[in-house]
Amino acid sequence: MKKYMKHLYALICGRVDLIATVDIENDKGYPIVKAGGLITTELYNDLRTSTLLVSLEEAVCFSNKVSSDNIYRKIKKLVESDSSFLAIDEKFNNSNGLKKCCGSLVAYPVLDEILTAFSIEMPQLFDQSLVSAYLAYISCVISKKSQEESEITFLAALMHDIGLLFISRKVRNKAGCLTGSEWRQMQLHPIIAYKMLKYIKGFPIEARKAILDHHENMDGSGYPSSKSGESISDLGLLIGLLDDIIAIYRKKFRPLNRSLNDVYPIVQMNTHSYPDEVLSDVLQILKEVEPSVNKDIDVDTLRDLIEYTYQQQLFINKLMDIIGQIHRGIIVEDNDKDVVKLQRDYDNLSVVIASSGLQESSYIEWLHTLNGEGSSQLYNEIEHTRLMLEEVIYRVNSFYNSASAYSSKYSNEIAVKYKVFVDVYASTIYPVVPSSLENYWNSSSDRGV
Ligand SMILES: [Fe+2]
Repeated sequence: MKKYMKHLYALICGRVDLIATVDIENDKGYPIVKAGGLITTELYNDLRTSTLLVSLEEAVCFSNKVSSDNIYRKIKKLVESDSSFLAIDEKFNNSNGLKKCCGSLVAYPVLDEILTAFSIEMPQLFDQSLVSAYLAYISCVISKKSQEESEITFLAALMHDIGLLFISRKVRNKAGCLTGSEWRQMQLHPIIAYKMLKYIKGFPIEARKAILDHHENMDGSGYPSSKSGESISDLGLLIGLLDDIIAIYRKKFRPLNRSLNDVYPIVQMNTHSYPDEVLSDVLQILKEVEPSVNKDIDVDTLRDLIEYTYQQQLFINKLMDIIGQIHRGIIVEDNDKDVVKLQRDYDNLSVVIASSGLQESSYIEWLHTLNGEGSSQLYNEIEHTRLMLEEVIYRVNSFYNSASAYSSKYSNEIAVKYKVFVDVYASTIYPVVPSSLENYWNSSSDRGV
């Protein structure tokens, strides 16, 4: 555990006040800070340049730590600031159960240090993990799980992404597409957390397994181990699904004042990817939230939405054509696990597109013939399509990451083919959201939607 903590203090030190856990002396044995003394950021920077008898990162802890009380209060605040979460809370929450889940963290003292580092280094992801933990707890309320099971679920959801603290900042914060080797680094984060949490006495093995599995998919297309079917922990699948839902909501819907319920069609497209037990609780949570209320849309804006949706469709068709051509020409050998995985990703992508009916030529033609004359019902239908297309684009992007990783790792004939796709993807411009549409979505807030 020492080496993990040393890394975390080195990552955060100099940005927050610390406390000395032992006497800190210089190389001549002269005391500089007594055990229990405060080390301000200024003093820390001085100490870094001094020669000390102990390694500085091994002699400190955070001064203001994230406690279980903080976590409870922060979750309450996040829930109260969002009308979708508030609706869920009013229906399902039993504050006592949530309070106990937060209180259960006290059993693992080192977690407050790790969570403190997490909250400082990646504040947005920390908040997202709090919401994941909260919704995971709500799913336990719905399925009437015991308090003990709820605490394990809460803990796993709260800690699932802490492995990212050990991925280089440069890779983690990169704005553009990751290179193959960067993507392989990112894929290590579930394994790192799994290994680190082994050193925390009493940390539940079910929670560790779920953390290890939170990016695995039923069809074997996930990472880090490409597990499939029942070998993946249900709790891992639940956390992965909730995390995706929250990320989509926070990035795409909430900024446009849209409701969490709008994620529903996207989850529906992926029903084949989750066991019923996992899916039914999550769908029940989403159903509890009211859908967004659409204000009257003018003909021009509706026309822009149709055109934008049509362009999204063309974007997908272009990339899917290339992926299809590559896969028709590849003979997959069982021992080439990377290609088998890419083949599975492609199959999965094809199933999602086929099950949504998005690639049927009659539908695309119909979309193209629309002129914007219509009602809010037409808006709802096109918007529904747009959301499903966004999900397909997200999956094409995941395929790109895997193809990019493969083409940078190998130099064989298949890698050359994937490189063609990678280059085309990188040079294909994603359709831009028309400003009329952004204005329309933004204006929803004026009506208190
Ligand atoms: Fe993750």
